[in-house]
Order: sequence, then structure tokens, then C-alpha cells
Amino acid sequence: MDARFAAESQVTVTTTVNGELRTFTAPAHRTLLDALRNELGLTGTKSSCTEGECGACTVLLDGKAVNSCLVLAAEMDGHEVVTIESVSRDGVTDLQEALLKEGAVQCGFCIPGQVMSAEYLLSHTPEPTVEEIRSAMSGNLCRCASYNRIVNAILATSKKRVSTGE
Ligand code: FES
Ligand code: FES
Repeated sequence: MDARFAAESQVTVTTTVNGELRTFTAPAHRTLLDALRNELGLTGTKSSCTEGECGACTVLLDGKAVNSCLVLAAEMDGHEVVTIESVSRDGVTDLQEALLKEGAVQCGFCIPGQVMSAEYLLSHTPEPTVEEIRSAMSGNLCRCASYNRIVNAILATSKKRVSTGE
């Protein structure tokens, strides 16, 4: 039989997602992005370009921000994933409040990915400069061109967290 018509192999993956151990079976070619949205029902992570260009699908994999459309679900096995659902578990965060206050949330589609990248930046650079923010966020595109507002929101969040010791 032509390999193209052979039954596609499946993989079973066990991974920690947002602090919970999850096991699922999916086609071997499934991306982390599609597994989160389809197999695990976590649709907060957005799918847009699906080729690593826009950052809409950003999640944390073992603590590092990655484009989940470029990672195979099988690569999650034994690893830890954090999505926007975890960040917002206790309600709107200070960063999300700042994004709203700055008017950065226009259509909102890019915002989950922006939040994940910004949280990753602030986790290892609590007081970033504007240049560091622009560099760290350069992989997250915004079709509504809220770039300056997003930078301002990250700066405001950084200042607030540093001043309150959060
Ligand atoms: S959907 Fe993954 S980078 Fe655009
Ligand atoms: S707010 Fe619309 S794409 Fe960023």
C-alpha cells in the first residue's frame, strides 16, 4: 500500500499541563498547539500562522517560551507545559489589567501569546528596559498594531511588581 494511505501511527503522551498530569493519544504528526486545543480542550492558546512567525501560540515548555505550533505533541511526553489558562487561573492578572488599561487589547487575538511571552520575560528579567521588552516581544505579532501599548503595559507591570515585591 502507498505509505500516504497507510493508517497514520498514533502516539500516547503523558505530560504535566498547568500542574495536572494528563495522558492523551493523538496522530504522530500532531503539534503541541493542536494537542492543547483538540485533545486537551485548552483553546486559550491561539492558532494563527502555524509556522512560527506570529507568536499567537506561545506557551511555556519546561519554563521556556516556545511557539507551540513548532513543537510535536510527542515532544511533550514527560515534560511540563504551562498555558494561558494557568496564568489566568485566579482571574485577570496585573499584566492583563495593564494591557486593558493601556488600550492594548483591540481584537484580542494575539493577547494570550503576548501575555505568555511577557510573563516569561518578567520571570527572568523583572525590570526590563524598553529595548529589552521590544526584543523579547519581537516574535509576537499584533495585527492591530498595539505594540507601544503592549510595551507600556509590560513596563507598568514591571514597576508595580518591583515596588510591591510581587
Ligand atoms: S501560530 Fe505558532 S507562531 Fe503563529
Ligand atoms: S490586539 Fe488584535 S492582533 Fe493584537
